[in-house]
Amino acid sequence: EYNTSATPDDLLDIYIDDIEIYEVRVVGDNANLPKLCEIYKEDFKVGVALMDFELKDERRVNLITTQFNSITMGNEMKPENILDYKTCSSDVKKYMTEPALNFSKLDLGMKFAKEHQLSMRGHTLLWHQQTPRWFFTKNYSRDPNAPLASKEIMTKRLESYMKQVLTYCNTNYPGIIYAWDVVNEAINVEDGIKGGYRSKDSYWYQIFGSEYIELAFTYARKYAEEGVSLFYNDYNCFEKSKLFAICTMAEDLVKKGILDGIGMQSHIKMDYPSMTDYEYAIKKYASLGVEVQITELDIDLAGNSLEDLTKLGTRYKKLFSLYQSLKETKQANITSVTVWGLSDDYSWLNGDKRKYPLFFDDNLLPKAAFYGACLDESIPLY
Ligand code: G3I
Repeated sequence: EYNTSATPDDLLDIYIDDIEIYEVRVVGDNANLPKLCEIYKEDFKVGVALMDFELKDERRVNLITTQFNSITMGNEMKPENILDYKTCSSDVKKYMTEPALNFSKLDLGMKFAKEHQLSMRGHTLLWHQQTPRWFFTKNYSRDPNAPLASKEIMTKRLESYMKQVLTYCNTNYPGIIYAWDVVNEAINVEDGIKGGYRSKDSYWYQIFGSEYIELAFTYARKYAEEGVSLFYNDYNCFEKSKLFAICTMAEDLVKKGILDGIGMQSHIKMDYPSMTDYEYAIKKYASLGVEVQITELDIDLAGNSLEDLTKLGTRYKKLFSLYQSLKETKQANITSVTVWGLSDDYSWLNGDKRKYPLFFDDNLLPKAAFYGACLDESIPLY
């Protein structure tokens, strides 16, 4: 209760310290924003990579479903989330050539896509990362020194894995996946191998040499739903030596009718690559006669001053103008452009340093980057 008769002499001094002042922003519902998937509906799908928790967050779901018509799961459809160690190791003989799989994580994204009528980029069937070492050992062993399985065994495991995953998707979610990253990041010219193949950190290469790539595409074609495009996907694929190695590898697969597209991940920087080199790469891949998809676009921006953010908007505007003009002038059959994350706070680029690479900020408010991608007049092109 207040003592209303108190005089100043009756009162205690109170010191307040450690005051922090935060900017409070009114969070809108983003309902009146221009819609990326509308803007580019005649050109290509516009997608976003997601993490599982985002599928249950109402504000995120609203934004995802109004802005995008394609999604990619950032992690949930990778081998480490599908291979079932417990079951495989419980009866090694039984599962020797037909690994046990668990689709509960894959289901999360697939159900979400189905419920919201979104298309899905399947990411990824074969990758040297996020595939546990035990899968490559003869006895599904977690012992780091356990010997690797033979090529014969791994060929069967590869076919079985592809068959099970693709059949599961075709049966339970027909028509949802329109593209699969069949093989991810198999070229790494720095390893010094003829053909530019990744070898040092790839058990696939160590067991097969480069043969596994064609095998993977062959099995993918055999079991994938009709009409699904099969992609080779890689980063820094605008760097000339990598670009040429990918083209040489891809040419052969295209001739064999088992590769339909090149996925250019496009984790890029503010000043690298140059627009000229990037455009050259898109055209070069397109000249193979395949689809091109921009599969993991983000721009590594470290600052968040108004100037930085505006420059990011400009870079995005240049990119989306390029994609649209290459598509509309039929210089490249770009069929999908996916940004690698919805909001800055959950970007994979955040490590020791905070980064600001995406279209939406931590409050899910649109940044200049978003308006740049919309080709909005407010964003300078130069
Ligand atoms: O789920 C665990 C969580 O339980 C644990 O507490 C936490 C602590 O580290 O880790 C969580 O897993 C992380 C996972 O992302 C989910 O957030 C992994 O450590 C982390 O390594 C993993 O990173 C993913 C990365 O691939 C792995 O290489 C990124 O999210 C994902 O965006 C990124 O995506 C790749 C593409 O697939 C291929 N191209 C490059 C791209 C960026 O690296």
